[in-house]
Amino acid sequence: MKQKHATTPSLDTLFIKTYGCQMNEYDSSRMADLMHKAYGLRLVAKPEDADVILMNTCSIREKAEDKVYSELGRYRKLKDKNPNMIIGVGGCVGQQEGERIQQRAPYVDAVFGPQSYHQLPEMIHKIRRERVNVTAIDMPEIEKFDHLPTPKGHGSVGFVTIAEGCDKFCTFCVVPYTRGPELSRPVNDILQECQKLLDAGMIEISLLGQNVNAYRGLGPDDEEWDFTMLLYAVAKLDGLKRLRFSTSHPMEMTDELAIAFGELPTLMPYLHLPVQSGSDAILKAMHRGHTRDDYFPIIDDLRKHCPDIALSSDFIVGYPGETNEDFEQTLDLVRRVNYDFAYCFKYSPRPGTPASKSEDNVSEAIKDKRLQRLLELTREQTRAAMKNQIGRTVDVLVEKESKHAGELQGRTADYRIVHFQGQPRQIGQIMPIRITESYGQSLRGELILA
Ligand code: SAH
Ligand code: SF4
Ligand code: F3S
Repeated sequence: MKQKHATTPSLDTLFIKTYGCQMNEYDSSRMADLMHKAYGLRLVAKPEDADVILMNTCSIREKAEDKVYSELGRYRKLKDKNPNMIIGVGGCVGQQEGERIQQRAPYVDAVFGPQSYHQLPEMIHKIRRERVNVTAIDMPEIEKFDHLPTPKGHGSVGFVTIAEGCDKFCTFCVVPYTRGPELSRPVNDILQECQKLLDAGMIEISLLGQNVNAYRGLGPDDEEWDFTMLLYAVAKLDGLKRLRFSTSHPMEMTDELAIAFGELPTLMPYLHLPVQSGSDAILKAMHRGHTRDDYFPIIDDLRKHCPDIALSSDFIVGYPGETNEDFEQTLDLVRRVNYDFAYCFKYSPRPGTPASKSEDNVSEAIKDKRLQRLLELTREQTRAAMKNQIGRTVDVLVEKESKHAGELQGRTADYRIVHFQGQPRQIGQIMPIRITESYGQSLRGELILA
């Protein structure tokens, strides 16, 4: 409902700036739904057009806080011109920094974390009524999901968070501190949310969690369901054409999950399975819970059940104590697995994590050199896998207009980006495309007309 009062001008527009992972993207869209329901707010594309600005932040890697404060500096100028503007900082930096944000940037009205954004309508009400700053960074046991309106969704791909938080405590990672303990949503809630998105016209569902395959939720039979059981249930929903999930942990991989890739026609043949390092000493120091020799059979099993599966991983170079020999082990693992995509990062100490107590003793120059070598190898693998696609006819879910005029962009089943000449009305459909060219990170093709 819109508030109209002489001393409280109406709020009409909302701008959300999102950083970080897909779970933050999901949270931002839920915040938009929530603010629309509570205040009738309409999303705008530029902060200067907004009455409410929300930042949904990420603190996974270095300089996260600096980035937030420099962006806030821009918003401060907008607020000088429009003093009724409300500025909120949410997400993982909000959770970690809490009231420190308002101490450094007093023009910030609200600070909140990933588990408390369902309180936004009350927070905004309080800010407007009492003209005070508010902070909500508690991690309530009750699920925020119970307080969120039905997702509206738009486009053809819907994201659904199935589990929150993480209990793995990898030594380098802030997520267990920013998102809290691992909590799985009940199966029925997830199925209902997926069905609503499908009924709204989406055809692909992507299930999200920091450790999505660690899912253990309450089933409709009052028993605990694991991730594979949930997958089979989602795969049966009416209207579903494509099913994906991210991110998986090697320790939570099961044979049943590998079999599902072979059995479920809607489960797309792509898996992101981060290993971080190929050195046993570093894996142990990172507290990843497995060795390099535990990882290879998982990959073999996946390829046995689904020979065309595309695989990707995240890597960290320059973890404290990483020697040249450790790094060579990572290169060796990459050569043996042969990834379709890889995401490579230089280690950066994060506040509050166990690794940040060890000396960050690999020099920046060596981190740069190792990153460069790893990128050369993984980019070569990506390039070769892309080249392999030439001549194939593949199904592409058309997602949007591409940056090149007259062209559309979509994804293959195995998550490769394809550009082709097409009509905007084809957006949202799955079209057969013959691949004609490959680039480092994407493909070009032509539409096959029936
Ligand atoms: N839950 C996922 C990944 C979460 S974070 C998993 O377990 O794999 C995404 C990626 O960021 C991680 O896989 C890791 O490669 C990278 N990352 C996390 N913390 C980091 C740090 N302190 N320095 C550098 N990279 C980091
Ligand atoms: Fe972070 Fe490890 Fe949890 Fe992934 S599994 S979110 S890297 S602590
Ligand atoms: Fe970043 Fe938080 Fe996601 S730290 S990666 S936004 S869980």
